[in-house]
Amino acid sequence: MNAQRAGRGSPSGSECPSFQPDTVREGLWFDGADGSGERFRLDIVNECLWQQVPDGADRRRLLSPKSFAVLKHLIDRAGRLVTHEEFFETVWSGVYVQPEVLKSQILSLRSVLEDDARKPRFIETLSRRGYRFIARVAAADAIPSGAFAEASASVNLVGREQPLSELGAILQRTVHQRQREIVFVTGETGIGKTSLVDAFLRQIRVEMPQARIALGQCVEGYGGKEAYYPMLESLRELCMGEGGAPLARDLASCAPSWLAQIPTLLQPAQRPALQRELLGGTRDRMPRELVNLLQRVTQDAPVVLVFEDLQWADPSTVSLIEVLARARTPMQLMLIGTYRTADLVSGDHALQALRQELQLHGLCGELPLEPLTEHEIAAYLTAQASPGCSPPEGLARLIYRHTEGNPLFMVTLLEHLRQRGLLTSVEGAWHLRAPLNTIEFEVPETLREMIETRIARLSAEEQRVLEVASIAGVAFYPQCCAGAAALDPERAEELCQALAERHCVLRAAKGDRQASREYAATRYEFAHAMYREVLSRRLTPARRAGHYARMASSLESGGTAESQQPPVLADHLDRASHPAAATGKGSSVTREPPWVGGILAVQG
Ligand SMILES: Nc1ncnc2c1ncn2[C@@H]1O[C@H](COP(=O)(O)OP(=O)(O)OP(=O)(O)O)[C@@H](O)[C@H]1O
Ligand SMILES: [Mg+2]
Repeated sequence: MNAQRAGRGSPSGSECPSFQPDTVREGLWFDGADGSGERFRLDIVNECLWQQVPDGADRRRLLSPKSFAVLKHLIDRAGRLVTHEEFFETVWSGVYVQPEVLKSQILSLRSVLEDDARKPRFIETLSRRGYRFIARVAAADAIPSGAFAEASASVNLVGREQPLSELGAILQRTVHQRQREIVFVTGETGIGKTSLVDAFLRQIRVEMPQARIALGQCVEGYGGKEAYYPMLESLRELCMGEGGAPLARDLASCAPSWLAQIPTLLQPAQRPALQRELLGGTRDRMPRELVNLLQRVTQDAPVVLVFEDLQWADPSTVSLIEVLARARTPMQLMLIGTYRTADLVSGDHALQALRQELQLHGLCGELPLEPLTEHEIAAYLTAQASPGCSPPEGLARLIYRHTEGNPLFMVTLLEHLRQRGLLTSVEGAWHLRAPLNTIEFEVPETLREMIETRIARLSAEEQRVLEVASIAGVAFYPQCCAGAAALDPERAEELCQALAERHCVLRAAKGDRQASREYAATRYEFAHAMYREVLSRRLTPARRAGHYARMASSLESGGTAESQQPPVLADHLDRASHPAAATGKGSSVTREPPWVGGILAVQG
């Protein structure tokens, strides 16, 4: 505890007398990517850094709270590009800071780690994009076994045993049949694609240490600019990592056109010869050269490539995936691609057509990730507490109801509860500071921004119909919202159908088949209650009342006889300050027309 206080507020990187903390040796170890054996431990409990001193007591290096947060974020995402934007959204969430602030934090971390930006051992700069932690990372308790893990060991994955074992089976096939395998891990934003792949890579490192692993990240807004970006990243990682020297030689002999694109790997002496060799036609030969290279390097050991966030892939990368999928040469290559389903379906994305085509011919597989169940959320909460401490009764159900099993929403909501002081963890046990039924759930700021960004990308008509739908009930008929959204009923229906087909914000209401058949109309609901909440909170009171009024009058003018008007209509007329509300119109209902169902659901 003292150590923690001493750490806070001290200048970044200053040292302090060395002693070993009595606290649990919790944290993450890492050692320089150059194999020098220099080792550090990020002390999560005391928020500082320990430098291992051979034959001596470890030396404590103090970090400012922000430096600690930046370093922890980098280490949690070890091996991956962390973009400037990601830093600003996470470490400086909700606060505007100048980009130089990030630079200066990285500078001070480099000085503590005695790292050189030109020859990095810990933090690599990826020009104009961000930074990557390149040192090898392991959980403190993993050290004795010598099994290193590159990603955060503090992540507790739940409910992913099945996809993990499927990935394992695919890798086994690659190795035993020497056949390249391509698999896409897909799902909505925050469903856990990256976490699953990270867990799989951790598993490979322990169970198949001879396998070579490389990550290539597609970056939003960057895709179209640099062809083959994730593959170039992967090759650079493979060549610069442990045992990369022979690969760099193979690159020069089998794939000079690729080598020419990775200046950091080029020896000055190689440049003139390479330039002569590459005169003309470089782009055309790149796919062929890569297949030759991969065939060669996968002869002795499997290679696992991960292309992350392919929804932002450049067209050359998509063509390259096709070339690899169709290559007939034997190679122990497993390519895992992740992408957000909705982003692929909504645009005219080349990868969507390619995936369908490849799947049809059995040339790729897909692992669509499902939301977590309530039971799995309970397991997650239990795993976060000390053994024997169970989470507060009903918390898992509540989180499930508000997040519908999306892991990102789950962890963000939990964090939000913690920040508001409603949920605390004392000595490994969860404590709720207020009865569950009194806690008002609001959408955490970071999620609200993410949802707002998604909505802003939709057309004006789509946004209008969604805005009205957000106050029309848990499940609604598009016809019910049409008037208020200034749309024809058919157009409103078309828009909702298209959004649901694109897995975007809406979906057909669950368990509604009977009603759909009877009335030849489909009810829709929001894919997440949070989407509905964000949209409805955008409405000013006057606009909301206006929508209610227009919904109410379109119900009235829809020819509904007085005896057929639902009781809830009076409520809506009332909310809209409609004169008919006072007359008691809409006080009884026998059998309502289909669109009324949406309004009725407001009560539920
Ligand atoms: N199975 C799981 N169990 C517990 N937590 C999980 C699980 N899957 C993901 N998480 C947590 O949810 C958050 C989001 O996960 P992740 O980044 O892997 O999602 P993603 O699908 O890759 O998102 P994106 O579409 O933005 O790339 C992370 O904080 C992660 O730790
Ligand atoms: Mg991801």
